[in-house]
Amino acid sequence: MSSSNTPIGIFDSGAGGISVLKELVTILPNESFIYFADSANCPYGPKQPEKIIELSNCITKFLLDKGCKTIVVACNTATAAAIDFLRGNYNVPFIGMEPAIKPASLNTKTKSIGVLATAGTFKGRLYIETSRKFASDVNVCYQVGEGLVELVESGMANSEESENLLRKYIEPMLDCNIDHIVLGCTHYPFLRPVLEKIIPKSITIIDPAPAVARQTEKVLKENGLLSATKNLPSIELFSSGSSRILKFLMEENIQLTARTSIKYVDGISACNA
Ligand code: DGL
Repeated sequence: MSSSNTPIGIFDSGAGGISVLKELVTILPNESFIYFADSANCPYGPKQPEKIIELSNCITKFLLDKGCKTIVVACNTATAAAIDFLRGNYNVPFIGMEPAIKPASLNTKTKSIGVLATAGTFKGRLYIETSRKFASDVNVCYQVGEGLVELVESGMANSEESENLLRKYIEPMLDCNIDHIVLGCTHYPFLRPVLEKIIPKSITIIDPAPAVARQTEKVLKENGLLSATKNLPSIELFSSGSSRILKFLMEENIQLTARTSIKYVDGISACNA
């Protein structure tokens, strides 16, 4: 088992996982992180599960070679396709994204909830099982958010294009009388300001990232892996393409202490590393 003072690995198909990293640095301020964005292969949503397993496996090897003590799969689509494979093949704890059907189904008053996610996430065992278990008496209005990941990746989360696309996806959910909407893709929290313009205030938006960060803390504690030192934390961000959007979203969303060192590395292919 790795030492508690090594970094936490975190990966996504692109920059979406920054929404999870944001919650992680808030509750784990003494931890260091290595983030891998597979920007060259983004989006994962329309890809076959076998391809996503192959890519996730390469990234996991890359993060473990860098000494990571645990891995947060900060991508719903990669969690859906690959987390069983990863857990079966590596000896470190993996924390994945949970589609937050459970809190939405338990709290809905209208008995109708909306779920926005990628095609890959809807096909995964986790989504199917969680819906069966918690949403059997709830009307689930689900929608593939085709094109939304690309808008976030190109720095256009806050644009007219995003608003138009979101309106197209959300209006049928409003017709379903939903009172909760689950953000089933880690890129979508960056669309929240636009989403809030479209939906009435009475609808609760559920972003699973804070729960995933709490689960990460719990898993680290249980495995004796919480950082024991008050060393200066570092965050290294690797991208298989350009890290421009990572930098933009980090600066827009994450308040780092002056103690944290931060580094961006572009053009790293995990599969050939
Ligand atoms: N952030 C990924 C997720 O949570 C985006 C998926 C994609 O690349 O299509 O599913």
